[in-house]
Amino acid sequence: MSDAATLEGELEALEAQALEAVATADSESLEELRVRYLGRKEGRVSAILRGLGGLDPAARPRVGQAANRVKGSIAKALDARAQALAEADVRPSGHGDLSLPGRSGWRGARHPVTLVIDELCTLFGEMGFSRARGPEIETDWYNFEALNTPLDHPAADEQDTLYLADGTHLLRSHTSPVQVRVLQTHEPPIRVLAPGMVFRRDTWDATHAPAFAQLEGLVVDEGVTFVDLKATLAEFARRFWGPGTEVRFRPSFFPFTEPSAEVDVKRVRTIREPDGSTRTEEGDWLEIMGAGMVDPAVLEAAGIDSERYTGFAFGMGPARIAMLRHAITDIRSLYENDIRFLSQFGPS
Ligand code: DAH
Repeated sequence: MSDAATLEGELEALEAQALEAVATADSESLEELRVRYLGRKEGRVSAILRGLGGLDPAARPRVGQAANRVKGSIAKALDARAQALAEADVRPSGHGDLSLPGRSGWRGARHPVTLVIDELCTLFGEMGFSRARGPEIETDWYNFEALNTPLDHPAADEQDTLYLADGTHLLRSHTSPVQVRVLQTHEPPIRVLAPGMVFRRDTWDATHAPAFAQLEGLVVDEGVTFVDLKATLAEFARRFWGPGTEVRFRPSFFPFTEPSAEVDVKRVRTIREPDGSTRTEEGDWLEIMGAGMVDPAVLEAAGIDSERYTGFAFGMGPARIAMLRHAITDIRSLYENDIRFLSQFGPS
């Protein structure tokens, strides 16, 4: 026979234990707690109520009252916790937490090299250039001979160029053959920009890729001189890199231009100090393109009268410009399609 005082003590302890457990329960453990304390068969409180008959009759009402109070108190706590959980929890089960902020997948973006090409096309577009394109598979005539480059020139060597199995077709090694195709099909005045992929038998390392983008420019008209070349390219550099940009032309050689030049830019940045004063900081000279006056032999090969027309051409590597712009040190990262790299250049 249980002693009334022991039961009262047990009831108190049960209440305290139950209220503490209920306060932190989740929906599932809440049901277990209801069964453990109040369940008709296994519940501890119900068992005490059932056992009242075995008590000293004088003690029964006191213990019965205490048991009913504890039962009510635990039931109230269970209901209150269930209500609180229902309000906090807007999840339909199995569908995740709808109250969390949305997580959208990266939908893709334009490639950093494409962004440079588009920007260059827009910029030269404002100076009157339209866009031209040519095939990636060329004949050696378009890729070399029409560009005043004999087939025994080092550039035409099998070590440098990817030939197709037929021996006369090749993957173009530069975008310059587009010059020839445009000259063959259009009457001057010509002002075009031709972006596209080019291919070379190059190693795959931090500074070389066997396939990369180039951007070719061509201007042909009556009376075009080296002054037009310098003014156009300097204007381009200032619009692209900022008004303080300096431009330098170094003598060079390309078979399809005469004279030829390498074009370098030096960026000058204005830095505002915390005290409001400004100072300028000069960068290094960066080589950005090859250029020159179109060789008369190129005009003649394409059927253009070189006595009447002159022109200039230039070619640059948008990947190199993108690398300079974003301080990218390894060209391979532009071609590996790693989303962690590409997603830094903006959303779609
Ligand atoms: N085709 C040259 C190359 O791939 C680049 C180039 C240089 C293009 C001078 C030109 C030019 O149009 O005038 O290295």
